[in-house]
Amino acid sequence: MTETKAIRGRLLWFVDDPETAGDAAHRHVEDGVIVIVDGLIEAVGEASILLPTLPADAAIVDHRPHLIMPGFIDAHLHLPQTQVIASYGAQLMEWLAKFTFVEEQKCAGPAHARKLARFFLNELLASGTTTAAIYCSVHVASVEALFTESQARNTRMIAGKVMMDRNAPAALTDTADTAYADSKALIARWHGRGRQLYAISPRFVVTSTPEQMAAAGRLAAEHPQCHVQTHINENRAEIAFANELYPEPGDYAGIYQHFGLLGARSLMGHCIHMTDREWRRFAQAGAVAVFCPTSNLFLGSGLFDWARAKAEGVPVAVATDIGGGTSYSMLRTMAEAYKVLQLQGQSLSAFAALHAITRGNAKALKLDHLVGSLEPGHEADLVVLDPAATRVMAHRLETARDLAEELFVLVTLGDERNVAATYVMGERIDADREPSPQPSTPPVLANSR
Ligand code: GUN
Ligand code: ZN
Repeated sequence: MTETKAIRGRLLWFVDDPETAGDAAHRHVEDGVIVIVDGLIEAVGEASILLPTLPADAAIVDHRPHLIMPGFIDAHLHLPQTQVIASYGAQLMEWLAKFTFVEEQKCAGPAHARKLARFFLNELLASGTTTAAIYCSVHVASVEALFTESQARNTRMIAGKVMMDRNAPAALTDTADTAYADSKALIARWHGRGRQLYAISPRFVVTSTPEQMAAAGRLAAEHPQCHVQTHINENRAEIAFANELYPEPGDYAGIYQHFGLLGARSLMGHCIHMTDREWRRFAQAGAVAVFCPTSNLFLGSGLFDWARAKAEGVPVAVATDIGGGTSYSMLRTMAEAYKVLQLQGQSLSAFAALHAITRGNAKALKLDHLVGSLEPGHEADLVVLDPAATRVMAHRLETARDLAEELFVLVTLGDERNVAATYVMGERIDADREPSPQPSTPPVLANSR
């Protein structure tokens, strides 16, 4: 039986990029309604026009005066790092060895992986994030836990098993063969199951042998519908190590390109210290540069050049990078993005920031036909925001003169406290709820870790 529901409030979404299309890029409806049939958006527009068209038994939820947007999208973060966040005093390579690789080993245990997956997804939803591209640990159990919990919440998530076979503790390494076989089995089991999508995830060239890089490239060629996610050009010491391990291609991006890992579905984390040739390689390949502002500041990695990426025609996505990053909130992430751009004499309007975390990230992830918009046909993943949720914000908003100024206050001072509700496929989610995992048959995999 079809179920129709209507969600009423102040609506904001994007149909184009504000940095190129200006005010024509956004839609703002002061008293609007989203009509949802079986989890999909059927219609969107003025309440006065749509309410009379609803069937008599339609449920109407009224969120006025709150602002309703498409659920936020986070293009890069790490499940095993929920207890790595806020680790003191190190830059990337030391931070990986001292904190991250220690904590990630705990994900070998399915009970720990399940605990992290529940916390992680609940925290994302509480922050208004309904889709994310997620690195699990090297352990198959962590991917199982993440997808099982995501399936139970019906969220659209992209995730993958990290592939790493050197320069890491023995307990965290796989091999070229087991990484290939396990990733392949996970793709067969999870990619396209419900709303789950798989990302082939070689961690970065430093932790993969040429054999494993080739295996990852083979997976990408055999599964062109899957994303590839990895790290590049984040930290000077990392870059020197990468080029020392792989001198032939001549630059970091060339290494990924050599192994067939730089394509239009490649989500390349950080991209801070890029050469002219690397920008060109990205542009030609259509590879996505993923900007992680809170992480880049926290780890002292450097400043992402947003204007350069745009000028080169390189698609940009934005992300929290938990737990190098310091907040699950995409609002807080964009507040830090604004500051990173300010340090380079660039600006980021509130419209551009809110576009980036909805339609912009959906496009970069090639999911814009499904999520990131309130246009009919899209999946009804929504975030309901109270821009005046805190005393400081309510006080500041007394002087806001227009929508642009109100939204700039929201982006600059906002976080999870502004999230009044989150909807997944039209269903309101209680982030504190712990849905019981659906029964699942154990996978048959090459590597039982
Ligand atoms: N490079 C390789 N692995 C990681 C990671 O886990 N976090 C960050 N920030 N950079 C990385
Ligand atoms: Zn990362």
